[in-house]
Amino acid sequence: MPANENTRKNRLAFGAEIVTYDDARRAAKRRLPRMIYDFIDGAAGRETAPARNRAGFDAVNLQPRALRNVTERCLKTHLLGQVFDAPFGIAPMGMCGLTYPGADQIMADQCTARNIPLGLSTAASIPLENMRQLAGDNAWFQLYASGSTEQTMSFVERAKQAGYQKLILTVDVPQVSRRVRDHKNGFEVPFRIGPKQFLDFALHPQWSLSMLWHGIPETANYKHPNSGGFDRNSSRAGADWTFLDQLRQVWSGELIIKGVTSTEDARHIQAAGADAIWVSNHGGRQLDSAPSSVTLLPPIRAAVGPNYPVIFDSGVRHGEDVIKALALGADFVMLGRPVMFALGAAGGRGLRAYLDEVTLEISTAMAQIGTCSVPDITPQCLYGDTQISSALTTENIALIPTEHHKTGGHR
Ligand SMILES: Cc1cc2nc3c(=O)[nH]c(=O)nc-3n(C[C@H](O)[C@H](O)[C@H](O)COP(=O)(O)O)c2cc1C
Repeated sequence: MPANENTRKNRLAFGAEIVTYDDARRAAKRRLPRMIYDFIDGAAGRETAPARNRAGFDAVNLQPRALRNVTERCLKTHLLGQVFDAPFGIAPMGMCGLTYPGADQIMADQCTARNIPLGLSTAASIPLENMRQLAGDNAWFQLYASGSTEQTMSFVERAKQAGYQKLILTVDVPQVSRRVRDHKNGFEVPFRIGPKQFLDFALHPQWSLSMLWHGIPETANYKHPNSGGFDRNSSRAGADWTFLDQLRQVWSGELIIKGVTSTEDARHIQAAGADAIWVSNHGGRQLDSAPSSVTLLPPIRAAVGPNYPVIFDSGVRHGEDVIKALALGADFVMLGRPVMFALGAAGGRGLRAYLDEVTLEISTAMAQIGTCSVPDITPQCLYGDTQISSALTTENIALIPTEHHKTGGHR
């Protein structure tokens, strides 16, 4: 997509007040009950990991370049047999419907219109069959291996029957982590409404009235008789390499493994026949002491080689973050919390404005660093080895072969 003034007009016409991630987060904090805001914003334990994710990004610099003709810029990105109009999509998130009535439909519309992928969580507030109808091949189904193997496989069968081509297995939630804010707020699905929650809802009438009018969203996929019902805290700890082999045998579409942070796991997953890995620390929602997400990219890229598809999330907030992740070894980048906040702030208007802004930021930054296409975003776009190493050594990155930065690595 060329740097397009229409995009900016569209944003100014429809959502001038919500432009950046910080705008969306602030507005969502005002509109959403505290319990819902904290469910989105919160993380594991002392919540140090999200800050570390951001520090990782901020420590990486891009190298501006001069006198290159960057008039015609294109954001098209090839991934796993699909061509998308931008190098980013929406990560799977449970219960998006809590942010705004019709949130799933809004995301489907945006992803279809922009031709970007949308991860649909097992714990989504819309049945997977309906989402496939709404978003077609842009919808990817995300699987949690909870309950019995038969129950898990029933989701796989449903995804197959519905026509999904891409299945994401999330492997970084063997047990839902201790999220202190959720615990203190009494956040449970389905809701249990005591005096504290009642007061919280009463103080946020706009959200509460809209939910009363449209109905409180449910974990819709678990309404199916074979699903075993929803239990947010149910253990997913039984899933192991044998389960991955089983899954690989029954799922003939593309299989993506999400939540990879170790080079050893990455190699093992690759050898097990998965089609892609998704580097993520779940936005710091699982392990408080997890390493900063972006620092994981170079060693994992080095471990799986230049051609193996690597998707990335955790801490991405701005267009330049997308570029940094691509330059450090990712092929594709996913947005998590910002999407929830943009929806929570102003529904479709908020999401449209935020996604417009990210797209524009990517295009503008590409011009600054002298690149016209996504495949041109390589480690050479990063500012200096010294900068990179000092950014990365803080997180145990002595492992990165220097040639990866020098020779352009994955692309
Ligand atoms: C409210 C919320 C719910 C989430 N639910 C899921 C889920 O059901 N399945 C999953 O694989 N990841 C889930 N995630 C993790 C996201 O897919 C993604 O990895 C994470 O949000 C990235 O971190 P960031 O939001 O800080 O960028 C969830 C994240 C949030 C914020």
